[in-house]
Amino acid sequence: MILWNDRLIPRSEASVDIEDRGYQFGDGIYEVIRVYGGKPFYLAEHLERLEKSARAIRLPLPWDSGLLAEKLNQLVEANRLVEGTIYLQVTRGPAPRNHAFPEKAEPVLVAYTTEVPRPEAMLKEGIRTCTHKDIRWLRCDIKSLNLLGAVLAKQEAVEKGCKEAILVRDGTVTEGSSSNVFIVREGTLYTHPADNLILHGITRAIVLKCAGEAGIPVKEEAFSVDALHDADEVFITGTMVEVCPVTHVDDRKIGSGVPGPVTRRLQQAFDEQIA
Ligand code: PDD
Repeated sequence: MILWNDRLIPRSEASVDIEDRGYQFGDGIYEVIRVYGGKPFYLAEHLERLEKSARAIRLPLPWDSGLLAEKLNQLVEANRLVEGTIYLQVTRGPAPRNHAFPEKAEPVLVAYTTEVPRPEAMLKEGIRTCTHKDIRWLRCDIKSLNLLGAVLAKQEAVEKGCKEAILVRDGTVTEGSSSNVFIVREGTLYTHPADNLILHGITRAIVLKCAGEAGIPVKEEAFSVDALHDADEVFITGTMVEVCPVTHVDDRKIGSGVPGPVTRRLQQAFDEQIA
């Protein structure tokens, strides 16, 4: 079953209008929510971010977060999903093609679930990454359907045998193509501030909270590509990758090329959130 506006229907009964503005302009927003043990993880935070994205693109959401949460829980139950994800998107809906907002448009909401196991191998061994120019727009804090800047960067990374592209704007590291980036230097954790140049990741916020509780000093400060290359530890965070160690950046080994102690500690703290 999928959620189609406020109804649960079989996927085969849903159809997309060829003039849906999400399809033609990327005029819409989305969320990816993890489900652990049959329960959506940090659902309220995801729905709060969805509302923020909707306000930023002036998209009136006809569903309040409470009702939406109820519907998403029903969707997970209907599909008997235990480990996986909910993909949720809202577009400005169908209207004759014109860049300006239509006078009458009805937003279209779609949510569906997918079974996905936790990325155990990546979490244990870490991943290779490479840097890539951040060619995205200046409102990366909006979780918009326009993802070409991320898609192109990720594809180049994959073609180089890497799992993630780390994006660089004007010499400083912003975030990954679909994750946030952290470095550890002399025991201090650094990550880009939550401004318009990055998505304010839910996993990022969880890690910052865990770091605070563990007494790990944190600086939300932009850092250079050199600082990334020379970091003691690097890891990325995200709904799909959790807290994932980075062993290589641009073929350069990070630390001794294995996940470091601060990363391990934060992985453990993150696991305790799930349990
Ligand atoms: N992406 N930065 C970007 C650009 C992202 O696309 C994502 C998540 C994150 C991490 O945010 P969170 O911790 O809230 O998942 C950071 C999702 C998973 C995606 O597009 O598939």
